[in-house]
Amino acid sequence: MARILITSAIPYINGIKHLGNLVGSQLPADLYARFMRGRGHEVLFLCATDEHGTPAELAAAKAGKPVEEFCAGMHAVQKGIADGFRLSFDHFGRSSSRRNHRLTQHFAGKLAENGLIAEVSEKQVFSVTDNRFLPDRYIEGTCPNCGYDRARGDQCENCTKQLDPTDLINPRSAISGSTDLEVRETKHLYLRQSALRDRLEAWIDSKTDWPVLTTSIARKWLNDGEGLQDRGITRDLFWGVPVRKGDQPWPGMEGKVFYVWFDAPIEYIACAAEWADANGLADADWERWWRTDKGAADVRYVQFMGKDNVPFHTLSFPATIMGSGEPWKLVDYIKSFNYLNYDGGQFSTSQGRGVFMDQALSILPPDYWRWWLLSHAPENADSEFTWENFQASVNKDLADVLGNLVSRVTKFAASKLGDTVPAGGAFGPQETALIADLGARVRDYETLMEAMDIRKAAAELRGIWVAGNEYLQAAAPWSALKTDPARAEAIVRLSLNLIRVYAILSRPFIPDAAATMMAAMGSADWTWPDHIGGALRVLPAGHAFTVPENLFRKITDDERADWQQRFSGVRG
Ligand code: MF3
Ligand code: ZN
Repeated sequence: MARILITSAIPYINGIKHLGNLVGSQLPADLYARFMRGRGHEVLFLCATDEHGTPAELAAAKAGKPVEEFCAGMHAVQKGIADGFRLSFDHFGRSSSRRNHRLTQHFAGKLAENGLIAEVSEKQVFSVTDNRFLPDRYIEGTCPNCGYDRARGDQCENCTKQLDPTDLINPRSAISGSTDLEVRETKHLYLRQSALRDRLEAWIDSKTDWPVLTTSIARKWLNDGEGLQDRGITRDLFWGVPVRKGDQPWPGMEGKVFYVWFDAPIEYIACAAEWADANGLADADWERWWRTDKGAADVRYVQFMGKDNVPFHTLSFPATIMGSGEPWKLVDYIKSFNYLNYDGGQFSTSQGRGVFMDQALSILPPDYWRWWLLSHAPENADSEFTWENFQASVNKDLADVLGNLVSRVTKFAASKLGDTVPAGGAFGPQETALIADLGARVRDYETLMEAMDIRKAAAELRGIWVAGNEYLQAAAPWSALKTDPARAEAIVRLSLNLIRVYAILSRPFIPDAAATMMAAMGSADWTWPDHIGGALRVLPAGHAFTVPENLFRKITDDERADWQQRFSGVRG
């Protein structure tokens, strides 16, 4: 069995994420983690909140709370929502943890020892009105690359270009809106990523199996020279990891903190340490996931993220790891995503346009969202959420195909043949054909899931459900019952077993429905069906089952119209 380390891009603490954020990192990471656990592999699945930087300070100020208190509260909120979506993190950490403070300072110290940190006196935007420097998002203006007029000081949301605050055209303070800005001199640390250019390029070149979306973005930043410019890794902020050289003070850097994009990916490592701490484990227990000298050489490390995060994960964070000169694990595979749009436009956090994670759970259970989002994941291009499409998928795939199969089989069996698996005769040609068909489909499903080809995997799972329905329709146990009761019993015996097998196969996508199906079949045997023929004989004659509650309900036209109206903008 393999060991697989899985991380999802860690969501900013500043607010509740929308469904586009969810499908771009946390949800597909969860799908993969659940699948790999289901196959019997050892998985460590980590996520955390990204708590530093200007977004956190701004959101706390807006909420009228001290930033520590704001972050603690919002972490708990995000944790609750993640549980609501059944995101199966082994640990949901915090980038503001003691562990991350120490590790971030450790990495900075190592990078300095290795000559990869430059101390640079630079000119920074100072707001006279606000009496402070304006790093990153404290400053907004027009993107010099694409002309978008609400670009932030660290990155343009529109064209994904990484920016420095002084690059912006017509800059203004995001705190006060003031344009009374001056450029003043201040000292900062720079990570000399350019010194690692050749190593980074060779490493990216070796990743021939990565998705094109990932490597094309990485190459773009490598080759146009922009992405690998040395980048400032410190900021004049109050909230963050204080700048230290390992456990020593850093002369001249008093009162400054590390840049959020420097400490956030280090939290992937720190989170493993937090996980160990939370579970009473030793350092060796998390280091075997992260240190190649301590057992992690045979770990496969997979990261999930939206496309705007790719430059930081293909260049900046690997530069930190490589530059440390220590045997930390580098990522083995990066699965990245395009954007999910909302009903003819974009999701907008600021305008409250689209469905946010808490709202989604307040109107429907998690499986409905998980199924739609994953089966429409924006893999090869941006994709779009529409209420019509959501209603159609849920009603058809979940209610008509899967839900209906489970309800028909269990109700028929219970009412005509009793509350245990019937004995009946041996399986016949129809069963043999179904087993052959499912055998091939399940192998295909496994291949697609291993490759993280999510939409295709969802389509194959749906095909597996459809095959069961078609079998039931053709085998027609309700007719057989009148002429050949033993035949009807054999069909029902297989069909009840099919429900258990479907629970196992469907669990990564729709874990709650899977649990209901498994419980109804009176089983807790989640062993992956390596051999379908055998798996369809696990529940023996005489084994008790129950008729579950309706698995999925249909979305009505009235609900659809109501929700469409409710989520069209301006969060209430
Ligand atoms: N908080 C960032 C975002 O939501 C992602 C950070 S990923 C990490 O876009 F690598 F920095 F951890
Ligand atoms: Zn731009």
